[in-house]
Amino acid sequence: MTLQSDQHQTARDLIGAASRVVVLTGAGMSAESGVPTFRDAQTGLWERFSPEQLATEEAFRADPELVWSWYLWRARMVRACEPNAGHRALGVAQNRLAERCRSLQIVTQNVDDLHERGGAEVLAHVHGSLFEYRCADCGAPADFELGTAEPGSVGSEEDLERMMQVAPPACERCMHGVMRPGIVWFGEMLPPEDFNAAQTAVEKCDLALVVGTSGLVQPAASLPYLALESGAAVVEINPESTPLSEEATVTLRGTAAELLPGLLLESGGASS
Ligand code: OAD
Repeated sequence: MTLQSDQHQTARDLIGAASRVVVLTGAGMSAESGVPTFRDAQTGLWERFSPEQLATEEAFRADPELVWSWYLWRARMVRACEPNAGHRALGVAQNRLAERCRSLQIVTQNVDDLHERGGAEVLAHVHGSLFEYRCADCGAPADFELGTAEPGSVGSEEDLERMMQVAPPACERCMHGVMRPGIVWFGEMLPPEDFNAAQTAVEKCDLALVVGTSGLVQPAASLPYLALESGAAVVEINPESTPLSEEATVTLRGTAAELLPGLLLESGGASS
């Protein structure tokens, strides 16, 4: 047996023994669905715009068309992606554990809806959602129809060029503000309800499964350490080393879609 397969067995045993599992996910969770991560894939279309440059209130005030269009383009790109085997395994495991009076709660930094489309309920979207909108001035929630793109063109350079001409619609309530995406931008507070729910879940869990996050953006990055301080085991799934790797109870080197189905759905895991 190799060291990694020992670690896999330990992780399965920990999941099998846990009554309350919290899964903390980041961009790596959706990478195999075709959604680029923030720090690994600064290539192609993402080379042109740094999320850190566009994901601020100042950027939106300075160039609302650019920032609004960038988020619409991302939302349409995500709509064209499908949940991967990791998302689906989490959906199945969540249901199986619920049938056994155990729980699996998902806290995600991802602004996509791939957990939900993979059959799972999400406890907290701590960085907001690409599919919620509100007025940038009065804060009123707003509906917005994303529209359709030419088949095969979603997420392409041409789609992005077309989107670049789109101005955010005016708020129908206050009439002077414009719509913005319901995303947490750099320098903004996390939605308190979501972050409090995340903290409470983590404090009460027996096991935190940390999937596909670099652990570089606070305060979300503090959640695995809160789990450790509260006495929970922490299992990390990531193909690369992160600051958490040394601290985690078990670190599994591999991807979400490769590892989650085996960990959660084969003997041990959420089946036991
Ligand atoms: P990052 O892009 O910082 O990190 C992605 C992590 O996923 C890296 O550690 C990769 O090694 C790992 N990874 C890549 N492919 C993977 C796969 N197939 N399976 C598992 N892991 C994989 O993304 P986040 O940590 O989510 O904030 O970034 C945190 C926040 O920074 C984002 O929510 C966003 C960003 O700026 C806001 O938008 C506020």
